Amino acid sequence: GESIALGELAKRMGIKATEVVAKLLRAGMMVTVNQTLDIEDAILVAAEFGFEIDRVGFEEEDLLERVVDQPDDLRPRPPVVTIMGHVDHGKTSLLDRIRKSNVVDGEAGGITQHVGAYDVRLPEGGRVVFVDTPGHEAFTQMRARGAQVTDVVVLVVAADDGVMQQTIEAINHSKAAGVPIVVAVNKIDKPGADIERVRRELADRGLVSEEWGGDTIFAYVSAKTGEGVDNLLELLGLQTEILELKANPGKSALGRIIEARLDKGRGAVATVLVQEGTLKNGDNFVCGVHAGKVRAMFDDLGRRVDEAGPSIPVEVQGFTGVPEAGDEFAVVESDKSAKRIAEHRQMKKRESELASIRKLSLENILDQL
Ligand code: GTP
Ligand code: MG
Repeated sequence: GESIALGELAKRMGIKATEVVAKLLRAGMMVTVNQTLDIEDAILVAAEFGFEIDRVGFEEEDLLERVVDQPDDLRPRPPVVTIMGHVDHGKTSLLDRIRKSNVVDGEAGGITQHVGAYDVRLPEGGRVVFVDTPGHEAFTQMRARGAQVTDVVVLVVAADDGVMQQTIEAINHSKAAGVPIVVAVNKIDKPGADIERVRRELADRGLVSEEWGGDTIFAYVSAKTGEGVDNLLELLGLQTEILELKANPGKSALGRIIEARLDKGRGAVATVLVQEGTLKNGDNFVCGVHAGKVRAMFDDLGRRVDEAGPSIPVEVQGFTGVPEAGDEFAVVESDKSAKRIAEHRQMKKRESELASIRKLSLENILDQL
């Protein structure tokens, strides 16, 4: 249950711990400075000094009800593969190519372009969820977050351009997140393609291809002609199979925001990548500083769905505000709980913003002295 050390409680009240102990001893409570008080006792002690304990902070974790998964609850889940690389090296083209040749239903016309995550069914029956990221230097944050939600990174390097600034950045994000990299050398159809150069430049960054005796998987592709794409998918299949990815679909959903925006007609909408549990229509949730209720969900082809399990990206309507990419998305029992957590987080955010303003103005004063 909830508890707090007596010393910590004293500190928060701004009273010396020895003073607190003395008063409690006089009141007949046998306590020491190092004692841990359960929440009921802490409330009594605080009341002795005219303080009321605000339990919101304690409640957040209780209200979120984090379930510890048992091995029996775990089921295989599709891999999440994030495409990264320098601007214009062909990430989106490669994804388009993968989807065109492999989306079983094939209704490319219904594709919602702004959703950066795609659920792809492979001909052999496998399923891979791809997340596209922008290569422009301005989107460092999105790449860092992309690396965090993913199981494998496909690093796209244009064969006619080689390793560039954001190629290196993507390698660093992947390493920081501990995610394996599969290299896709793209644009091999171009006259200026120089595969040897790409191998050499990547080897310099610690990614040594298997052809050169290293352990990094390289695939050589052209998003334009489609050459090598099936091979890339095969290699990805092998790479993800050994990871034996699993999650518990039988509990409330936990996920991350891939991207979010304000839609004129529909309000705040966000693409949620479900990581654990199953997200259902009507679920109450908290996400960053916002509470909400799932009003409608759409898959990557813009079709309405009623639920989404682990690894599946869905566009969710029903946010009370626009969350930030990377925010955790957690389903909670009731809308009351969701609102309490959101309000508490908003309060904390305001507090820290105020604190930084105070710190800033203090620094300004010091500068002037
Ligand atoms: P950002 O999202 O802006 O970082 O770019 P991107 O990496 O998604 O590149 P995108 O797919 O938009 O492709 C950039 C340009 O390269 C486009 O003009 C594509 O047509 C072209 N391109 C992509 N792949 C290939 C390829 O394999 N061969 C050739 N010749 N051109 C390609
Ligand atoms: Mg792109």
